[in-house]
Amino acid sequence: MTEQPADGPIPGDIPFGLLWGIKRSFVAYVRRMPDGQGSIHDGAVPLGEDTILFPAVGGVDAGGSTFAFRGDVRFKGHGGMLFVRVAAPLITVRDDRAELSIEDPYARADADRVPLVTLQLRPGPAPEGARVWLGSDVRLTEAGATLFNDVYQPGEPFEQLSVVLPAEG
Ligand code: HEM
Repeated sequence: MTEQPADGPIPGDIPFGLLWGIKRSFVAYVRRMPDGQGSIHDGAVPLGEDTILFPAVGGVDAGGSTFAFRGDVRFKGHGGMLFVRVAAPLITVRDDRAELSIEDPYARADADRVPLVTLQLRPGPAPEGARVWLGSDVRLTEAGATLFNDVYQPGEPFEQLSVVLPAEG
């Protein structure tokens, strides 16, 4: 597959945002396709082979219950039959599980966001100057399964993720 070049973060800088590989086996599947294509837009950048950095938008809300990110990652293949777009991820923390939703994959006007995965989100060890949350037990929603052509069942494990934000103050 071909990948669009993008500038990575400056070495030495903490990469603030959502760090996520989405679903490694899906990315590998698209990479195997003769006409498979991945492209990254709207501020997202690849970090190494497997991870995408979606930069944080505006930090956490007052209640600390939503985390918004920008970036738009698209996968294409099979002569245009396969199209998956993961854009503007938003994590909403609920009672015991968080949900990551994305913009309408087909960018239709006034379309609702689509819940893609649910996860456990917990504070994790952070370098000085940063706050870190780790997302584990990341699982595909029903709407997410539709997005992947129902090849995966709801509950399919997706990659673990991290949220890295500047320390307060
Ligand atoms: C021309 C139409 C398609 C053909 C011939 C096709 C073929 C295949 C084949 C042969 C596999 C299993 C082999 C492999 O892993 O390389 C596969 C897996 C998969 N396909 Fe397709 N596919 C098509 C369309 C789609 C579409 C529209 C989607 C929507 C996103 C999709 C999503 C997937 C996913 C998610 C997997 C599993 C990847 C993994 O995690 O291993 N496919 N497909």
